[in-house]
Amino acid sequence: MPENLNVLFLAAEAEPFIKVGGLGDVAGALPRSLHDLPPEVTSGTALDIRLVLPLHPAVKAESLRPLMIFPLSYRGGDLHVQILETSLGGMTVYFISGEPITSSGSVYSIDSELDAEKYTFFSLAALELTRQLDWKPNIVHANDWHTALACYALLIKRWEGEFPGVASVLTIHNLPFMGPDLSALIEGYGLSIAQTGLPEWARARPLPLGLWAADSLVAVSPTYARELLTPEFGCGLEDYIHARKESLNGILNGIDVESFNPAVDPALAVNYGSVTLDKRPLNKTALQVRLGLPQDANVPLLGVVSRMDQQKGIDLIPKALTKLKDLQWQFVILGTGDPKLEELFRILQTEFPDRVRAEFKYDAGLARQIYAGADIFLMPSRYEPCGLSQMMAMRYGCVPIVSAVGGLKDTIYDGETGFVIQKPTAARLATAIKKALAIYSDHARWESIQKAGMAQDFSWENSARQYFQLYQRVVAQLVTH
Ligand code: GLC
Repeated sequence: MPENLNVLFLAAEAEPFIKVGGLGDVAGALPRSLHDLPPEVTSGTALDIRLVLPLHPAVKAESLRPLMIFPLSYRGGDLHVQILETSLGGMTVYFISGEPITSSGSVYSIDSELDAEKYTFFSLAALELTRQLDWKPNIVHANDWHTALACYALLIKRWEGEFPGVASVLTIHNLPFMGPDLSALIEGYGLSIAQTGLPEWARARPLPLGLWAADSLVAVSPTYARELLTPEFGCGLEDYIHARKESLNGILNGIDVESFNPAVDPALAVNYGSVTLDKRPLNKTALQVRLGLPQDANVPLLGVVSRMDQQKGIDLIPKALTKLKDLQWQFVILGTGDPKLEELFRILQTEFPDRVRAEFKYDAGLARQIYAGADIFLMPSRYEPCGLSQMMAMRYGCVPIVSAVGGLKDTIYDGETGFVIQKPTAARLATAIKKALAIYSDHARWESIQKAGMAQDFSWENSARQYFQLYQRVVAQLVTH
């Protein structure tokens, strides 16, 4: 076992530099938690984890130090890779810039060609970076399709005798997003498409190539790891993933429990904790005021904070609430995404103008006010690799109603910390909301569910320990092979 364990962690986005979705939360928090693991856990191993991100145009570059420039061969010429560097709580963070990154505006473009060029360049430049630095990683840790190609290129080059002793880990946050076909680009960078046994449609797409090549695979919850082996969630690759079952792990994400803490969160009208839960309703009133909803402490307020995506099952909510129109409730949804889904909530707000508010934006402060002010959190996802907002909601005493998939299944105990529906349908959601509303009127019982949720430990340290142990196993296996 090496005394130094060096890890280069690759992601498309990471807080606090740039965040679009859950990947940004994870890539912001997990490397830092690994960096901060106490010596009792790492017992003698010096874990040096470094994060590498694309220098998206939206990242504030003023505080970054230029580090180096090197060429990457592409179609008989050279592309220039520029590396900038900064530090985040003592952890080194590299940013990669270059024409394919600067020319594509957003983190994820609607033009898949632009994304293909950007992330192929980024993945291969990140791998090359490890050769240019004095620092050598033992592990390259990629996340999702955007960086999965680094695992593929690493394996191919390892076969050619390069990058000796460097292993790869690929975390799967969302299998259906496999990335575009990269055949032409890959060849442009001097790589070939290997005989992988992948189905024809998948053979040159980055996530499948990463599934084939990575030394170890991680799904972001134990249930999602099992689901990936089934036709329902395996997206046509279930048999393929099955063949790699020995290398597949499930490690649940955490949340930043220091930042997401109702006792100190500056975004809230009033801070509170488990023993001062009686102060919580003041946040509900403040939220009702902010949203222009009637101020009533007794009417149950249902909340959603979500990307507006089919995955999230939020299209079931208007149908469920319409069924329950004779009951007392208020509802707020915050998020952006699919215009068709946004339209459903615009219609719902028109139908129930004094009960429904739909806010189509990204607003981190309002999200926290919803966790603190709403009574019930709805998350009827069709699939959910891990899900973070149900954990945030519980931490704030907002009781979740979720479907029995992926990380939702792993984080919520039905009837104890929340309510779980077996299938995401409008009818089942309506039944669960009705049940929750009935329990809500029993104050003592409701409070015990809130407190049980608030007492759950969703801190990152637990996940970071598991990743650390995984890194050790992966390095040991590579040495013995
Ligand atoms: C993706 C998944 C979500 C997961 C997040 C972070 O956004 O959809 O379930 O929590 O990645 O892993």
